[in-house]
Amino acid sequence: MEEKRKVIFSGIKPSGDLTLGNYIGAIKNWVKLQDEYDCYFCVVDLHAITVRQEPKDLRQRTLEILSIYIASGIDPDKNTLFIQSHVPVHSEAAWLLNCYTYMGELSRMTQYKDKSQKLGDSISAGLFNYPVLMAADILIYNADLVPVGKDQKQHLEIARDIAERFNNIYSPTFVIPDAYIPTEGAKIMDLQDASKKMSKSEENPNGYILIMDPPEVIRKKVSRAVTDSLGIVKYSDEQPGVKNLINILSVLTKASPEEIEKNYEGKGYAQFKSDVAEAIIKELEPIQTKVKELMANKSYLEEIYKKGAEKANYVSMKTLRKMQKKIGLIPISK
Ligand code: TYM
Repeated sequence: MEEKRKVIFSGIKPSGDLTLGNYIGAIKNWVKLQDEYDCYFCVVDLHAITVRQEPKDLRQRTLEILSIYIASGIDPDKNTLFIQSHVPVHSEAAWLLNCYTYMGELSRMTQYKDKSQKLGDSISAGLFNYPVLMAADILIYNADLVPVGKDQKQHLEIARDIAERFNNIYSPTFVIPDAYIPTEGAKIMDLQDASKKMSKSEENPNGYILIMDPPEVIRKKVSRAVTDSLGIVKYSDEQPGVKNLINILSVLTKASPEEIEKNYEGKGYAQFKSDVAEAIIKELEPIQTKVKELMANKSYLEEIYKKGAEKANYVSMKTLRKMQKKIGLIPISK
């Protein structure tokens, strides 16, 4: 009998155009893991609507993210690729899990604290409950592993806490998921301010590189990246801008930071930055071409997300039924 493979779940929210941070911190690792695991890769549109979205843009971005998954090398025949809102179990399970989650633990989430500082009282209840929906995403597939960037670590911890709590109150129901955070590239920093992560919601576009940025834009943004006046390519916390660029180059060329330091001994920043830009372009250009092809073939995309939703629905429904039964909700016979 075929051995049951371990399960992976991960997702990206279509709240803005994807950045190099999303690619290196998440997608690039998914591609590596797909042969070994039973993978669910989701476009988490319900998470995106925790802040206001233009409907037309949301639709476009959702399909573009699906295209980026495929164009980056995620095989739609081997993996389950789908859109979160196509599988109602996510919302249903999130409601149930909300009743096993404390206001206190949700208000301690850094992402919530940051956003509520900005938005004050007009922060949506959806942003507060966001981690519960994320826990539902993961737990309904009994995922063993969740490959994410470092910024999602706290959300993974609360998902584990909720799962353990439910298991303890009733009986073992959920697998307790582990985060899989890459050793390199777990946090790609903003090119203009290396103290914060590169983010699609950042206001200054020079701070991020988008997966779909044309080559000339990538060259311009990298050449403008903030470094320092030391003029030495060194992997050091005292040179956060340079360190970030070394990290990017290292992930993309597979050269270690030490090798990179050596290669640029006595060379200054101009050549280094130009090589970083070219490495990014080399990685992204074929993906961009494929994304454009896929976006012109909506019926193919539809075929994939329909098939994905069917499988995801079947698997997650089994977990939902278990949850309902344990809680004491009356099952209805088929
Ligand atoms: P999101 O959409 O903000 O980001 C998607 C993935 O990209 C990673 N990432 C980064 N990695 C390295 N450097 C960066 N600068 C960087 N920026 C983003 C994120 O860590 C993430 O892995 N809540 C999630 C989406 C989500 C999810 C889930 C993820 C919803 N349900 C279940 C895993 C499992 C989010 O907002 O990711």
